[in-house]
Amino acid sequence: MKNNNTNHRPNLFLSLYGALLSLLASIAASSPADLAYPSVSGVDSGHCSLHDDGLHPVRKEVYGNGRIFDITHRYIMDMPSWDSEDGLGDEYLRLPSSMKNGSLYNASEMKFSVHSGTHVDAPGHVFDHYFDAGFDVDTLDLELLNGAALLVDVPRDKNITAEVMKSLNIPKGLRRVLFRTLNTDRRLMWKKEFDTSFAGLTKDGAKWLVENTDIKLIGTDYLSVAAYVEAIPAHHVLLKDRDIILVEGLKLVDVQLGMYSLHCLPLRLLGAEGSPTRCILIG
Ligand SMILES: *[C@@H]1O[C@H](CO)[C@@H](O)[C@H](O)[C@H]1NC(C)=O
Ligand SMILES: *[C@@H]1O[C@H](CO)[C@@H](O)[C@H](O)[C@H]1NC(C)=O
Ligand SMILES: *[C@@H]1O[C@H](CO)[C@@H](O)[C@H](O)[C@H]1NC(C)=O
Repeated sequence: MKNNNTNHRPNLFLSLYGALLSLLASIAASSPADLAYPSVSGVDSGHCSLHDDGLHPVRKEVYGNGRIFDITHRYIMDMPSWDSEDGLGDEYLRLPSSMKNGSLYNASEMKFSVHSGTHVDAPGHVFDHYFDAGFDVDTLDLELLNGAALLVDVPRDKNITAEVMKSLNIPKGLRRVLFRTLNTDRRLMWKKEFDTSFAGLTKDGAKWLVENTDIKLIGTDYLSVAAYVEAIPAHHVLLKDRDIILVEGLKLVDVQLGMYSLHCLPLRLLGAEGSPTRCILIG
């Protein structure tokens, strides 16, 4: 008996010690905010992996031998979010069911404003009676969201005023225009802090567009097609007749100016006045 006891004690001590060490190690490895596993650690670079198992996902901006351009921003925690300094944040995508946590499968959950990243606005965004009447993203015209579009550069020293709109000489009959602005040069969609100085349509620019062009789909390269100080009045002008679709937060780098076939497919979020959308240009 005595011998047995002395033989067992060190083993018991060692296994308790070992358990304590691995407990400490697992605490050190998880961040305090970690209620469930984040789905997206290390995704930003697209290449970083702790375990080099030879599996490297390919992330592309251009497909089909240079013909198909992805003009959608990838959702990442450091992308800008309206009026926020903190960006989208690390809670936008979580993994409540995780294989690392004993689940038989991985299943993520997302939570963010429908006006995050590359997204569309429906008339209900700035008109309460349209919202109540059901003019949500599910009612946006797929024919308008898909078709011939012009990508143009606008002057970098001004917002898109009536004068600028006029100077662009956009031909009559053209229904879809993507405006590339200083926002792209400044890489604003790649900066976590929301920047109110972004370029966009002014109210009189929006009015000029409505009154003098056939444009029914407007795309720009920051979170609002309209400049910050006039964002609401300009949205009112654009969405009043419910015949214009706004596509915001486009990624317009490394694409040549000119005509393309644009394809945007927002989600069918019943009752939502905005939706994330995938947009591509086919040249
Ligand atoms: C995984 O672990 C976290 C943290 O303990 C917990 O909040 C979460 O509910 C767990 N998920 C599953 C599927 O067990
Ligand atoms: C499931 O998620 C974990 C992260 O908890 C990840 O390491 C693992 O590769 C995922 N497995 C599959 C099959 O996607
Ligand atoms: C556009 O308007 C914003 C205010 O909404 C302003 O901060 C910015 O300087 C203007 N941009 C240009 C290029 O004039």
